[in-house]
Amino acid sequence: MGLPIGVLASGRGSNLEAILRAWEAGELPVELKMVISDKKEARALRIAAEHGVPAEFLDPKAFPDRVSYDLALAARLKAAGVELVVLAGYMRILSQAFLEQFPLQVINIHPALLPAFPGLGAQKQAWEYGVKITGCTVHFVDAGVDTGPIIAQAAVAVEDDDTPETLAERILEQEHRLLPEVIRWIAQGRVRVRGRRVYIQK
Ligand code: GAR
Repeated sequence: MGLPIGVLASGRGSNLEAILRAWEAGELPVELKMVISDKKEARALRIAAEHGVPAEFLDPKAFPDRVSYDLALAARLKAAGVELVVLAGYMRILSQAFLEQFPLQVINIHPALLPAFPGLGAQKQAWEYGVKITGCTVHFVDAGVDTGPIIAQAAVAVEDDDTPETLAERILEQEHRLLPEVIRWIAQGRVRVRGRRVYIQK
């Protein structure tokens, strides 16, 4: 028995695959309870099902507004006993109503070194800006867009011959390493938050 986690994903699901790989290798003291997507065709749902993890499409169009959708989402996760919600390429902003039910229990992977380049298309934003170093960030989710306390970051150098796509690929490699690692720290009870600062016990 490990920390019960739920994953929310909207697309390709490669970060979900990285979590599954680490979990199946016995590296994560977690129980992956369910994967939920807001996109019917999300590859993440197929991957979850292939690995025997309950997977559900929850249709935003079936709800009158964002808050009622988020409350339905929270109810499903609570019913499954989830204590950590992992956003792995989840492209909707979670409302305060959702976050109140999971205080400091929601983490997100973002493909830039926050607070630089929040929001969509972060890898391209960084490439266009001309930074020499970018990377990825795992952070707690608060009501802002990519503004919550930072848990861990990994740096990636931008090369002269990079395109936004080649850069995104190298950032993704780091995402696949960093996200499972942070989940492991949290599951091991090693993560403490004081205000904006996050401390990892050695
Ligand atoms: C990842 O690069 C993740 O960091 C990014 O979406 C991609 C999902 O890939 N998330 C965001 O941009 C959140 N603002 P995946 O579906 O293959 O894991």
